[in-house]
Amino acid sequence: MDPAWLVVAVFLLLWQCVESTNAGKEWTYAGVVGQSEWPEVFPECGGSSQSPIDVDTSQTLYDPSLAPVKPLGYDQYGHGPFTLSNNGHTVEMPLPSWMGIGGLPWQFSAVQLHLHWGNGVGVAKGSEHTIDGHSASAELHVVHYNSELHANLSEAKTQGNGLAVLGVLIEAGGETNQAYTNILNYLGRIRHAGQRVAIPAFDVQTLLPRDLSRYFRYNGSLTTPPCHQSVLWTVFSERVRISHSQLLKLETVLFSSRPEDSQPTLLQDNYRATQPLNCRTVLSSFVPVSVQIYTDGEISAIVVGSLCGCIGLGVIAWFVVKTIRNKDVAKDFKQDMALKMTFDPEKKEETVPQSEP
Ligand SMILES: *[C@@H]1O[C@H](CO)[C@@H](O)[C@H](O)[C@H]1NC(C)=O
Ligand SMILES: *[C@@H]1O[C@H](CO)[C@@H](O)[C@H](O)[C@H]1NC(C)=O
Repeated sequence: MDPAWLVVAVFLLLWQCVESTNAGKEWTYAGVVGQSEWPEVFPECGGSSQSPIDVDTSQTLYDPSLAPVKPLGYDQYGHGPFTLSNNGHTVEMPLPSWMGIGGLPWQFSAVQLHLHWGNGVGVAKGSEHTIDGHSASAELHVVHYNSELHANLSEAKTQGNGLAVLGVLIEAGGETNQAYTNILNYLGRIRHAGQRVAIPAFDVQTLLPRDLSRYFRYNGSLTTPPCHQSVLWTVFSERVRISHSQLLKLETVLFSSRPEDSQPTLLQDNYRATQPLNCRTVLSSFVPVSVQIYTDGEISAIVVGSLCGCIGLGVIAWFVVKTIRNKDVAKDFKQDMALKMTFDPEKKEETVPQSEP
């Protein structure tokens, strides 16, 4: 074999290795590097505390100490514009560091917000979290880092309780939601991955539901690679509504491909499947109405009450039976004498323990 060919072959092999390593850093929601393959390249994606999850409201634990979430500085959007960008996986908007949230065990500073959605066809799917198995049409995530324990996002994002994300389930139907117009009106300017646009600043709190006191709380992860298990999740119970045409815009305007790519690919179905809860507990800041009719105290009272009632009835029954039997025994003593010697269960019970050591 010609040594020149060998060199070429080795070079090709090496080049292929480099190619596949680079491809390994890429990820998508479906296909060859789709979500089921994430753990191969990003080991944390295969962890035991992953997000999103299905919230089973019959299994959530009511925690009365969970305070309402308090947006801090969300309405002080300053004079500069916001920036909206298409990163190929979602539409993302960085948030000023003076924004944050209170009502959690630590102070958290805002980092960015982004959205997840479906494909505009068939059943309403698109949210990452589901409640009792039901998806919403889309989901807003507002990402914060623990600024009380950590210097910055890159330090916080790998640490337990390093991040706090607010999850808002979005349903289609009804009128145009003016707050979401602030974002959706500019999607046409960032159709391709890598594009960004400056947009007028607005009150970010208007994107959240009105009721910030009713929510689910659990320990989970980033829902995209590298899936760090560092997120204290808050998923609000109240949903936000946008119009059908607003949802359609979100689902059909953006591409995950770059402008120079020969094959344009729509940015759709950018939601991760729900992950196993494993041994985690999902707390709720409220008592889900349809599920728990009694408080814990009432349930204990009912259990103890029924138990006492059963014991009481048992004691009464025992006395009645004993009295009747005593009378019968006295009355029919002579007639039943022979029978009782062989068949009376009381006699048997007396003889059995005696036979034991
Ligand atoms: C984050 O903070 C750490 C520790 O203070 C520092 O070493 C690092 O350079 C910071 N990173 C960024 C991106 O600011
Ligand atoms: C999250 O995990 C921490 C331990 O790291 C625990 O103290 C806390 O109670 C957990 N929170 C929830 C909501 O389960």
